[in-house]
Amino acid sequence: MTKDAILIDGFKHFSHTPEQFPENEILEKTAAYLKFMDKRRSIRHFSDKLVPLEILENIIKTASTAPSGANKQPWTFCLIQSPKIKHKIREAAEAEEEKSYAKRMNESWLKDLAPLGTNADKPFLETAPYLIVVFKKPYEIDKNGEKRQNYYVNESVGMACGLLIAAIHNAGLVTLTHTPSPMRFLEQILERPSNERAFLLLPVGYPAKEVYVPGILRKPLEKIYKLY
Ligand SMILES: Cc1cc2nc3c(=O)[nH]c(=O)nc-3n(C[C@H](O)[C@H](O)[C@H](O)COP(=O)(O)O)c2cc1C
Repeated sequence: MTKDAILIDGFKHFSHTPEQFPENEILEKTAAYLKFMDKRRSIRHFSDKLVPLEILENIIKTASTAPSGANKQPWTFCLIQSPKIKHKIREAAEAEEEKSYAKRMNESWLKDLAPLGTNADKPFLETAPYLIVVFKKPYEIDKNGEKRQNYYVNESVGMACGLLIAAIHNAGLVTLTHTPSPMRFLEQILERPSNERAFLLLPVGYPAKEVYVPGILRKPLEKIYKLY
């Protein structure tokens, strides 16, 4: 045990020094980070330019720094670069999306989607050099084949996905949060174990030469915030 560790209820706890900054620097940093993050947009037009694998692995490791209920880290990030698998995923996603646009989505849902200009065609699922499929794990299977429950799984995996998207943006790459539901086809195509459920599908890469995004606005502070 290092001299910085103590025992609490028999478990090691390590001295930790959180990063701290002078207040004027914090103000500058938070304003600059806000400006940077505000530039993030969901992108639906990708370049096919390759991105080194190590960059994607750094991004996935960053996502996995997220907090999680009882530190269960109930996620798996599948990274797909195989054109054959990307093709299978595109075909299956478009089949689900066709059904969704034709009959699963009600009128008000379709009305809300109209400004985004989306439809059932998802060419980016093949153009982007990578797809990340995030799986959540509602439970683990221990070595005796017994189920071990995970906690706050949706909250935990949602946070990891937020960090994933921020890390992609930080890299100067782009992504789209895509949910071609139901997403069971991803579990089947990727032959995932029985305790994994598809959570999100994200194409990742460089943006196409010319990119257009919907002219939608973020809510102003007074609509999303209340000081007590
Ligand atoms: C949970 C979730 C699911 C989404 N699913 C889709 C999707 O299936 N297809 C799509 O084109 N965009 C999808 N989006 C992207 C949203 O349309 C987009 O985030 C929103 O319009 C705001 O735009 P922005 O990300 O550029 O700020 C999804 C976003 C979230 C958070």
